[in-house]
Parts: sequence; C-alpha cells; structure tokens
Amino acid sequence: MSKKILSEKFYKEIERIRPRYPTNQALLLPALHLAQKEQGWVSGEVMDEVAAAIDIPPPVVREVITFYTMYNLKPVGKHHLQVCTNISCALMGAEELLGHCEKKLGIKAGDTTRDRKFTITEVECLGACGTAPCIQVNDDYHENMTADKIDKLLSELS
Ligand code: FES
Repeated sequence: MSKKILSEKFYKEIERIRPRYPTNQALLLPALHLAQKEQGWVSGEVMDEVAAAIDIPPPVVREVITFYTMYNLKPVGKHHLQVCTNISCALMGAEELLGHCEKKLGIKAGDTTRDRKFTITEVECLGACGTAPCIQVNDDYHENMTADKIDKLLSELS
C-alpha cells in the first residue's frame, strides 16, 4: 500500500478496541468513525487503509460506508449542519428550516461555503423525532429548532 494517511494514534486505538469486537467486520463502523474523526471525511484512500488495518476486503468497506449517512464521503466544512427532513421533522417545519439555513449561508444542501466554515447536508431521521425538528452540527444535536434558534446558533458558530 502507498504511504499511510491515518495516524499512529488511529492504529493504536484500533488495537485497543479490537478485543471488544467478535469479528473484523464488526470493527468496521467504529474504525470508520475513528478515521472520519481524524480526517473530517473518508476518502477512497482512507477506505482502503481502514480495510487493510482491520483486514477486510475494500469492497465491503465501500458497501457499508455508502449505506450510512453519518460518514462524509467528501470534505465538509468546520461546522457540518445535518438537517433532518424526515417525517416527524418535516411535519414540524424542517423544509422551511433547511431553506432558512440555505438562505442564511448562501449555499444549497450538499454544498460547503467558500470559506469552508459550513456545510449543509439534508439527512434522514436522526432518532430525535420526539424533539423535532432536529439539526445535528458535528457531534451535537440541536432539537426543537426554529429559525430564530438557527440564527443564534449560526452567529455563535461564525
Ligand atoms: S424525523 Fe427527524 S429526527 Fe426523526
């Protein structure tokens, strides 16, 4: 394999958590999570490196990673706004909130601002339907969102 992209820390963490998982395949999601945490997204090269690190075939990594929306398959901004527009959030005005985010940041869902500070992604259910509408920003959930709360959040993040 070509030069490694992932750090020594990544490899050490893999070895530390490996005994918790019954199979190499079971280790795949946490390994991808660690890789994304380090890189901000998971490129094709990183997918191959993860496959080699936990000894599973690269096509399996690709199948799995494209199934889940929590993995970024392209670079994202410093603040990744993931706006749920699934049924509960939609009923509580998520489409309008998504439009509000797009207007405020001057980009469409799927895009990143020129200064690479913000990315907006439209996502499926985040599992916070009881406090819809929900927006995830990096690892944090923001629930019962309103346009005013989005304005406040964006000004705090700017
Ligand atoms: S529908 Fe949005 S969190 Fe479930």
